[in-house]
Amino acid sequence: MAPRKLAAGNWKMNGDLAALAEIDALAEAHPEPGCEVLICPPALLVHPMKGRVGAHAIAVGGQDCHARASGAHTGDISAAQLKDAGADYVILGHSERRADHGETDAMVAAKAAAAHAAGLVAVICVGETEAQRDAGETLAVIGAQLAGSIPAGATAANTVIAYEPVWAIGTGRTPTNDQIAEVHGFMRDQLGGRVGDSGNVRLLYGGSVKPGNAAEIFAIGDVDGALVGGASLKAADFSGIIAALE
Ligand code: G3P
Repeated sequence: MAPRKLAAGNWKMNGDLAALAEIDALAEAHPEPGCEVLICPPALLVHPMKGRVGAHAIAVGGQDCHARASGAHTGDISAAQLKDAGADYVILGHSERRADHGETDAMVAAKAAAAHAAGLVAVICVGETEAQRDAGETLAVIGAQLAGSIPAGATAANTVIAYEPVWAIGTGRTPTNDQIAEVHGFMRDQLGGRVGDSGNVRLLYGGSVKPGNAAEIFAIGDVDGALVGGASLKAADFSGIIAALE
């Protein structure tokens, strides 16, 4: 059976309790979504968001977790704590965390292993900078990130890969369809032999996905959904992206 397409929203460091009203609007617009819908709010909102979702088909996820299960790590959150709060997914290795917190591929792999152990699906992010693309290094960069960031034991059931070119995030710029197709096809090949049931691993595109360009991006081969930042904050915008995937 083909995997369900995934529309994932990454609220980043945006939103508050009042913003949970967006969940009501999303649920009303998509009472029975034709794809999987996921929102990853700031950690403080995971539990209240899960409560707000209620019986609706909207999954909730975290944006990071620690590699350890518990212990003396002030300010950090474990995968098990996210799971306990109602999360089913966690985004890992986002370029903003790689840049802001110096996260390496090895750290991402350790976090992903912890996420798997806690029963979370890891959404592992990869992507090249503009300088790397200009230098013709895109596939080498993506290949190295995949090789280093995916832990042993990863399968299509517990792992999602998001291709997010750093230069396309929050800029309104997107790669050409051919560029997206090239990277997604390459990623599919790279997962073979490394990830269980690799043909069914969901490959998301992320970076300036909007209601207006979503359908075109979703028509590209090996694009199984999107990881959306800015356009996931308002139900009216995210709804257009979900509709394009349904
Ligand atoms: O994780 C999603 C993200 O980095 C893309 O952000 O605002 O360009 O959709 P945005």
